[in-house]
Amino acid sequence: MRHLIDFDQMTLPEWQALYELGLRMRERPGDFAQSCAGKLVATLFYEPSTRTQLSFQAAALRLGAQVIGFSGTGGSSVAKGENLKDTVRTVANYVDAIVMRHPQEGAALAASLFSEVPVVNAGDGGHLHPTQTLTDLFTISLEKGRLSGLTVGICGDLLNGRTVHSLIKALVRFPGNRFVLISTPALRIPGYVRAVLQQTGTPFCEADTLEEAMGGLDILYMTRIQRERFESRQAYEREAGVYVLDAAKLALARQDLLVLHPLPKVDEITHEADADPRCRYFEQARNGMFIRMALLHTLLRQGRQTPPPPAHGAGRCTNPRCVTAAEPYLPALSHGTHCLYCDKETVL
Ligand code: NCD
Repeated sequence: MRHLIDFDQMTLPEWQALYELGLRMRERPGDFAQSCAGKLVATLFYEPSTRTQLSFQAAALRLGAQVIGFSGTGGSSVAKGENLKDTVRTVANYVDAIVMRHPQEGAALAASLFSEVPVVNAGDGGHLHPTQTLTDLFTISLEKGRLSGLTVGICGDLLNGRTVHSLIKALVRFPGNRFVLISTPALRIPGYVRAVLQQTGTPFCEADTLEEAMGGLDILYMTRIQRERFESRQAYEREAGVYVLDAAKLALARQDLLVLHPLPKVDEITHEADADPRCRYFEQARNGMFIRMALLHTLLRQGRQTPPPPAHGAGRCTNPRCVTAAEPYLPALSHGTHCLYCDKETVL
């Protein structure tokens, strides 16, 4: 694994090694306090973030590495119109790894084409968020003792929630998992995630209410309706506030239910439900720092490499949210009509 664009870049033995390193770091963080001394990490956050940004920064500092970066593009040359390629080529000169969050789908893959140092996708638009998935898998393993044979309910904005897409793509790789996908008809999973479920023969069903799903779940993964991805305020308001986890719904669930949420939450979990010991999302957020320590520790050992010239595909992606729409110099990367940046079937 050179870059982390999504979890599927990682083999399962690589995941296992990362998990074990994460466990050691969680148990004895002091043992690693200087393990990345002399290294420098850039956190380039073109979009808002609390947990991902601060946990990566905390992870780097706890390994003895140092951090530079920006949080919002206002103070950077992006505000002067600099393109992604030039920003990445510049920053890669200064640091040993780049952690990047960007509003366009496929931006992390695009950045990796021009970077001499490892690029970590910390969220690319409504597409993918693999380090949240590392956090989720780490937490599920710790809490449930396994990543297989689980019935996983995922509720909320399954269309725009990048954490949902990466999590489903990861959990289908472990045997015996099944999904209950709880959303309104307008916010069902996108086609490329549905294709992964179908191609892997993973059992899943779609539900309209939390009540009908609660009783059978091992895990309930709640998500926020992604207001910033809607075309208009009215379109968001039609979908907001539909799913609220409260004490009455938790009473329908098993005693060993594990409730996760990538956070931030808005109104989808009541304060009363928050106090239920089955809700483990703040522990999940803490675990995220340790597994990101393990990831940085692994990637910072790689050194610099000139990126290989990308193989040009044919055609152009027509998805306006794809990074290729805003960064037109990017090489076309496609497989038939499938765009390798954004995963949509939109290449003409
Ligand atoms: C998520 C994200 O940014 O996609 N947050 C996170 O990284 N923990 C979820 C969200 O914003 O709803």
